[in-house]
Amino acid sequence: MKKIKKIKKAVFPVAGMGTRFLPATKASPKEMLPLVDKPLIQYVVEEAIASGIEEIIMITGRGKYAIEDHFDRSLELESLLEKRNQWQALADLKKISDMCDFWYIRQKEPLGLGHAILKVKDLVGDEPFAVLLGDDIIHSDGEPALSQLMDVHHKMGSSVVAIEEVTRAKVSSYGVVDPEWCMDSMYKIKGLVEKPDIDEAPSNLAVIGRYILTPAIFDALDGVVPDKKGEIQLTAGLNRLCASEAMYGCKFAGKRYDAGDKLGFLIATVEYALRREDLGASFKEYLSSLKF
Ligand code: G1P
Repeated sequence: MKKIKKIKKAVFPVAGMGTRFLPATKASPKEMLPLVDKPLIQYVVEEAIASGIEEIIMITGRGKYAIEDHFDRSLELESLLEKRNQWQALADLKKISDMCDFWYIRQKEPLGLGHAILKVKDLVGDEPFAVLLGDDIIHSDGEPALSQLMDVHHKMGSSVVAIEEVTRAKVSSYGVVDPEWCMDSMYKIKGLVEKPDIDEAPSNLAVIGRYILTPAIFDALDGVVPDKKGEIQLTAGLNRLCASEAMYGCKFAGKRYDAGDKLGFLIATVEYALRREDLGASFKEYLSSLKF
């Protein structure tokens, strides 16, 4: 039997311009928008680490230095907190840079998610790896979403994508899977389409930003013809990949927020604040005092 390798590397494509969040993202990366008091990207990095990831490769672009700084040590801040005896804050700060090893690689032009993934071919090497998109924040009371995908990968030895049912009206915002069969929360996938029109969508099962990919994705992406915008879509690479090897979808347990969208971001902010031990009760009291 083929030995399934542990997934150790995770790729974070973070080169996007964040135009949906202008002007907030004019001079700072959308990944650094705070959800309560933590940047969006940190939630996703924490999910990866809680799932067993040991190395994170960020594909960045212009104006993304704040992300590198965030996961680096800040010696000035550390010595200030030390002088002020703020030990808890100091420990929290150090935890961020000690989380795991980070690598950064630049995507020089915004030529699509698939193009970004092709950039990490040499860094990833010949092993399966994870991809996490920072706009999708997934809250889970139990097993992290990425870890649920890893379970399917370990069972089947194939690529796995996270999926969620969306309303028919929303299919045109997502990569959509064409399922062959389904068993509990696992779907065998026979095809995928990126952002189809409602009438052409093969299902209402949307791909959410968590993927486990076998290295065969690189050859599959190499053969993708750029779309009308000149971009190489990851979904197009996945569609090619599932023609040559098995691929599964995992309907994960957990609540997903589209934090790349203004309304989704507001909903996430309210719900994450309500869950907080230090803020939840007083925030709830404030919300119930509002008259609509
Ligand atoms: C990307 C992918 C799409 C996927 C979505 C999940 O789209 O291209 O297939 O369904 O992420 O959030 P984007 O939201 O970057 O337009």
